[in-house]
Amino acid sequence: MKHYSIAIDGPAGAGKSTIAKKVAKHLNFIYVDTGAMYRALALYFIRNNIASADKEKIESSCNDADVTIDYRDGEQQVLLNDENVTQLIRTEEVGNMASASSVYPVVRLKLVELQRNLAKKADVVMDGREIGTFVLPGADLKIYLTASSMERAKRRFLELKQRGITADINEIEKDIIERDNRDMNREFAPLKQADDAILLDSSDMTIDEVAEYIIKCYEQIR
Ligand code: DC
Repeated sequence: MKHYSIAIDGPAGAGKSTIAKKVAKHLNFIYVDTGAMYRALALYFIRNNIASADKEKIESSCNDADVTIDYRDGEQQVLLNDENVTQLIRTEEVGNMASASSVYPVVRLKLVELQRNLAKKADVVMDGREIGTFVLPGADLKIYLTASSMERAKRRFLELKQRGITADINEIEKDIIERDNRDMNREFAPLKQADDAILLDSSDMTIDEVAEYIIKCYEQIR
């Protein structure tokens, strides 16, 4: 039986996860948040005082960190060595470590296998950085979702504010630009728009407009 896949790639803070979740819910697909997997590994490195620059340690400790995915009430849960870390990985520190440690092919290949296996078993909306170019190059629909760095910083600032966290918007933008640079310029499977991906700039679009547009695109190819 054929399983359908929608790949949504793009830089940090472009709204990928919110939109991917909406699209998945509407189409009754499974939402796969690949960033959460890199974040779970990053949490392992932070907890064990392993620096992102320490390639050898990262490589040798990769096998000690078991990352698995579970679904509870339709929501993806990430388990790190059987501990549910879904809530613990949503910090800037973990996000930055995920970006820095995901440059190593050993880290990436471990998680790519998990991601491809999920897509073999179900219809998926998968978001990440290189889903359309590397993880699922044969995806039925590929979207490259972006927005200006200031707009993305503004969104993250408001998200943090809602959670009661005060932050400096200019610092957030600086962080975002740094993360973009690292994700786009790493040697192995960098963040890049696939040749056959639809480019969507969400700077002046609402979440619902973007989600509806993607659903329409999918209905046309199905
Ligand atoms: O999407 P996110 O902010 O949760 O991702 C955190 C970091 O993980 C991101 O900056 C780079 C890395 N990542 C990746 O390299 N490939 C993916 N498919 C997803 C995330």
